Amino acid sequence: MTKKKVLLSRIFPKLATQLLEEAGFEVIAWDKENPMPYTEMITVAKECDALFCTLTDKIDANFLNACSHLDIITQFAVGYDNIDIDEATKLRIPIGYAPNAMNEATADIAFGLMIATARKMFFMNQKIKDGKWGSFDPVGHLGLELKGKTLGILGLGRIGMSMAQRCKGAYNMDILYHNRSQNKKAEEALDAKRVDFETLVSQSDVISVHCALTPDTKGIFNKSVFDKMKSTALFINTARGGIHNEEDLINAIQNGSIWGAGLDVTNPEPMHPNNPLLNMENVCVLPHIGSATVTARNEMALMGATNIISFYKERRVPFIVNSEVL
Ligand code: GLV
Repeated sequence: MTKKKVLLSRIFPKLATQLLEEAGFEVIAWDKENPMPYTEMITVAKECDALFCTLTDKIDANFLNACSHLDIITQFAVGYDNIDIDEATKLRIPIGYAPNAMNEATADIAFGLMIATARKMFFMNQKIKDGKWGSFDPVGHLGLELKGKTLGILGLGRIGMSMAQRCKGAYNMDILYHNRSQNKKAEEALDAKRVDFETLVSQSDVISVHCALTPDTKGIFNKSVFDKMKSTALFINTARGGIHNEEDLINAIQNGSIWGAGLDVTNPEPMHPNNPLLNMENVCVLPHIGSATVTARNEMALMGATNIISFYKERRVPFIVNSEVL
């Protein structure tokens, strides 16, 4: 029997290849650090049966129609805004993903960025590297304290919950959230309060974004929203850069509408090295490393491999976005 061929679009944790090969698949793996170019990916995917891809790959309607023979696509990420899910569903291609694997890892980055931004850590570290330590300054570069402040979460799913638990445990913060559905667990365990979006932005000392990028959330943090936030507020985004309008964010920090921002995601990615955000005192930027722990990345590899193996063995995809196609 000929082996089913799986295209791995990036260098993924070795576990993915190991599991797929042990299960009898042939793995065709892109072996360069940069993402596989779009047209090359189409050419190679045409020769394969399944695709293991990630958020840097554009899986749009054109790609899907060119590769409509694919039995399954599985995404090495929890977010899948790079994939045209409606088109995949029309073509009856199951789309797998990796939910929950990175809840703790991403919440750590959100929590870390909150503290780093409140205390200007990246900017102060850069001063040392620039030879500008100076001397102990009784009134210089004063930050904010977080104890007893109000955390506002947009999208209180599992990652948001892990962030809220950290903020409650470390600083006894009050938790507000805005969600389509009620999160009873957060209300019972953390005394979280569900509020409308206006209340969330106007009452929070820290806004932490944990929702998906969708047409509804694209650019939702814009000038008019930043204007409604507290002038002492921190904006933390570890979800997707497209959820905030970058120019409006820069202006909001420069004109004092908000205090600062901690970003693990930008738009575009990578961020240009001359971006003004990188030199701002109250801003900390990371290069999208929310899920970058050994534990999370191995779990994501396991989920992707499991999706493909289960699909061929039993026509079941345990972690699936569009279950209606099965
Ligand atoms: C990372 O951003 C992910 O969606 O998993």
